[in-house]
Amino acid sequence: MKAKAVFSKDFAIGEAGARLYGSFLEHGGRAVYGGVYEPDHPNADSQGLRRDVMDLVKELQVSAVRYPGGNFVSAYDWRDSIGPKEKRPVRTELAWLSLETNQFGLDEFMDWCKKTGTEPMITVNLATRGIQEARDIVEYCNFPAETDLSREREKNGHKEPYGVKLWCLGNEMDGEWQMGQKTAEDYGEIAKQAAKAMRAVDPDIELVACYNTCLGMENHTDWGDRVLERCYDYIDYISLHKYCANEEKNTGDFLASTLDMEKYIEAAIASCDRAKALAHSQKTLYLSFDEWNVWYHSLEQDAHREKWLKGPAVLEDIYNVEDAVVVGLNLILLLRHADRVRIGCLAQLVNVIAPIFTRNGGEAIRQTIFYPFLQASRYGRGTVLRGILESPSYESRYGQTNYLDATAVYNEEKEELTVFAVNRSQEEEMELECSLRDFAFLELVEHLGLHHPNRYAENTLEHPDTCLPISETGTSLEEGVLRAKLAPLSWNVIRIRVPSEKK
Ligand code: AHR
Repeated sequence: MKAKAVFSKDFAIGEAGARLYGSFLEHGGRAVYGGVYEPDHPNADSQGLRRDVMDLVKELQVSAVRYPGGNFVSAYDWRDSIGPKEKRPVRTELAWLSLETNQFGLDEFMDWCKKTGTEPMITVNLATRGIQEARDIVEYCNFPAETDLSREREKNGHKEPYGVKLWCLGNEMDGEWQMGQKTAEDYGEIAKQAAKAMRAVDPDIELVACYNTCLGMENHTDWGDRVLERCYDYIDYISLHKYCANEEKNTGDFLASTLDMEKYIEAAIASCDRAKALAHSQKTLYLSFDEWNVWYHSLEQDAHREKWLKGPAVLEDIYNVEDAVVVGLNLILLLRHADRVRIGCLAQLVNVIAPIFTRNGGEAIRQTIFYPFLQASRYGRGTVLRGILESPSYESRYGQTNYLDATAVYNEEKEELTVFAVNRSQEEEMELECSLRDFAFLELVEHLGLHHPNRYAENTLEHPDTCLPISETGTSLEEGVLRAKLAPLSWNVIRIRVPSEKK
């Protein structure tokens, strides 16, 4: 099969910044306990933080990490998680029906962020709690000195304010599964009032409000519109969430599910711009796609699990190669909308639907989905170029779907151009011809592919290196034309050096 792409330096979509490569750490399952925090682990540092996990987080160059939920936040009191550990309460945790010991809390998370070079993105509880708690946590984190809360932070070992910029106003507040679910009117109003109070404490913060949790939720497709009518001028981003699944074992549809995700992004942009017009506002809202991934492998197992355990194994999806290709497709899509999607969080980070998987007391490994995220995070920062793609297509439940999906990111400072491409065909190799003619000098660096003869191949604790990126041969670059063979069902990263002068 043949396909073509054209990328021009003169047609830019927008800038893909570090925040597109964020992640999410929720108190649920073994994400925190046995994931980032395990004091008895041989690799733990003096604070009980797993060094092997921190190393993998640094390898991924994760930017913003959303914390502590998720559904978890909606029945949470952040004050339970600070102060002397022996005095912290053990609580029933209502999102995942487990026991929360609060041994890892807000201050430990901030220390972990510092150690891993990540940016904290804190979700406040606007469900079972409200405006007062939201302004208090901002004051505890960001207020310099002299107040009761800033003194309390100091007493807990942190004299300097944390300066947290990113704050989420609740989580999935339209969802029936959410403790303290709200109507659009109630949520729009509390988001507005909490935003006012939080910004009064620290005017430099950036606020993310909930939007429709996913596209086409029954009976409330206009939930997000009604929220925006109430709080448009008070917020900076809206939050989008989407998980893909292949429960019906229809790989063609699974690979095409990015078309659905794209519809969701486009609908959200339209909602923002509608609200902008209605509010006669000059401000443009951006999208925070702060939960996205593949999630379905663990659903059946989780339906039968025991309740009220500490750090139980839940949502432990073990990912295969086709999942990694879908994650790659999602990354291409987010990049293609970099003009409006400014924050992206792969959900989640460790053990719970995550690229990093650990054994309690044992090793930490890279799941298949680790690799596309790693490569996009490393090479996908810069100017996203608008591509023209020409590809054969197939019919899926989401409509006519191109076998080729691709985007390119140009980083002028690093003198690097990277083409990210997926071949959705499950049987046929794709001969890609990609025109990059308006770049003066081009040198091929490498072509890495991720594919496997068995699409269900996984990286497990026992066999952690089953699926690794492969160095592809036969890729050429002559007179501005890149020619590459993309294996069936594959994710590809083609790196090109773009020196400003020829050597
Ligand atoms: O990431 C798992 C859960 O999915 C999150 O807690 C919630 O926000 C979403 O429904």
